[in-house]
Amino acid sequence: MTDLLDLVRGATFDDFLFSPQHSVVERRDPALIDLTARFSRGVTLKRPIVSANMDTVTRSGMAIAVAEEGGIGIIDRGFRSGEIDPQVREVQIVKRKQHGVISDPYTIAPDATLAEAEQRMRATGVGTLVVVDPARHVEGLLTARDLRFAGQSGTVASRMTPRERLVVHTGELDPAKAEELMRTHKIKKLPLLHADGTLRGLVTAKDLIVQRQLPFATRDGQGRLRVGAAIGAKGDYLERAAELLRAEADVIVIDIAHGHSVVMARAIEACRKRFGDVPLVAGNVATAQGARFLLERGVDGIKVGIGPGGGCTTRLNTNYGVPQVQALVECRAAADGRVPLIADGGVRRHGAFVQALTFGGDTVMLGGMLAGTLETPGETVQKPVVLPESNKTVHVPFKVFRGMASLEAIVDRLDVEDAEAADVEALGAEGMEVSVPARGSVRPLLRDLIKHLCSAISYSGAKSLAEMQELFWKNPERYVIKLTASGRRESFDR
Ligand code: XMP
Repeated sequence: MTDLLDLVRGATFDDFLFSPQHSVVERRDPALIDLTARFSRGVTLKRPIVSANMDTVTRSGMAIAVAEEGGIGIIDRGFRSGEIDPQVREVQIVKRKQHGVISDPYTIAPDATLAEAEQRMRATGVGTLVVVDPARHVEGLLTARDLRFAGQSGTVASRMTPRERLVVHTGELDPAKAEELMRTHKIKKLPLLHADGTLRGLVTAKDLIVQRQLPFATRDGQGRLRVGAAIGAKGDYLERAAELLRAEADVIVIDIAHGHSVVMARAIEACRKRFGDVPLVAGNVATAQGARFLLERGVDGIKVGIGPGGGCTTRLNTNYGVPQVQALVECRAAADGRVPLIADGGVRRHGAFVQALTFGGDTVMLGGMLAGTLETPGETVQKPVVLPESNKTVHVPFKVFRGMASLEAIVDRLDVEDAEAADVEALGAEGMEVSVPARGSVRPLLRDLIKHLCSAISYSGAKSLAEMQELFWKNPERYVIKLTASGRRESFDR
């Protein structure tokens, strides 16, 4: 262990290769290789991928895609201080996206007008409303199809499928049984009732099909996608956490630039006092002392990385930080498996993702690698680019990627019109804004990353991600090759 600590001091991803071992994997098939990883106490993933809480990376679109692919997204807190609703809404969109059982389906009263029903369907984006009386007894079901050619003035009761013609189920139901019932009765919607006839939930055929198509998706106990949300450690953070938890965020991430601090200690204590045992991840730290500090305060996961991020200028501007491989090895030694570590930042190629998982990360947080994809928030802008071969100008689509401590991101979070000029001036930026080419969906990128991880597991001599980590830590010197400058050139210059 001391040997490894010495070897990685001052070093990061591009300083190492791993020596190939005797492979025992027959097929590098991501469907067959176990990639289970702990994100925090209480939240396990089938794919060790986390999308970064950055305002140019993770809002609901990214969080849904990443969770459906087996990881988890952390919704950023890059909304103006005091504006909690927009972040809560993003969490709600993810939690409502896909369901095993919809536990609180949208409802309407039987005496509402069809115009009201249409308006409700439009506002919520769903095509099925359960018709309930004021005591929530189910009276029928109204779908978008029932509204076709129906005019506007009739009542919901006049067009709904009434209770006596509905197939319903009373009590609990697992997805397999629900599928069987729906197949037998040739129905697409199945309302679930309590014994007293009140509404308990709704199962839809579409959700069941989606569930089957996404076997690795990260789901909570009710079959809904999981999502995390970030808070700070000052200002509105407690109120924000309360609202996010009310919206059923699965994990709260206290995310500040320097997590080994009195500010963080106070925030963890306040969160625990107010919210009890909710899954609480904290960061960032990059030293053994920092990791121990968070561990002793009872967090459920630790985010590791000071300054490796693509959009980050902390090291340039302050000269503080720890090369990411050193940080991971130190923090892993300190945490010793008691809580999972999230390797956060600096992963720019797939091989570095493998290293982050080998040197100490249980999961890996990605920012820049996901930038520019369809699921990132923000506008696509066409920028003129001169082609060197022909000297011709073409317009190329770009999206913005920026550090959360960049001046641009900070100014957006402040209510600039109300901010004093001196406040804006006093901001010390520790991040930058860059344009990145817009590209397609993040999903093929995530799947490629996973395929390469499976190949790495094969090279490592293991059969699963957990085993790859275990074999490495039993005998790191069998694996680690510290590169010379020419070794690095041969490996990574392409
Ligand atoms: P990558 O390399 O994946 O890193 O883009 C993502 C992580 O970078 C961190 N981050 C910052 N660090 N100043 C910093 O010092 C910033 O402005 C900044 N913005 C993001 C953050 O930990 C993120 O997850």
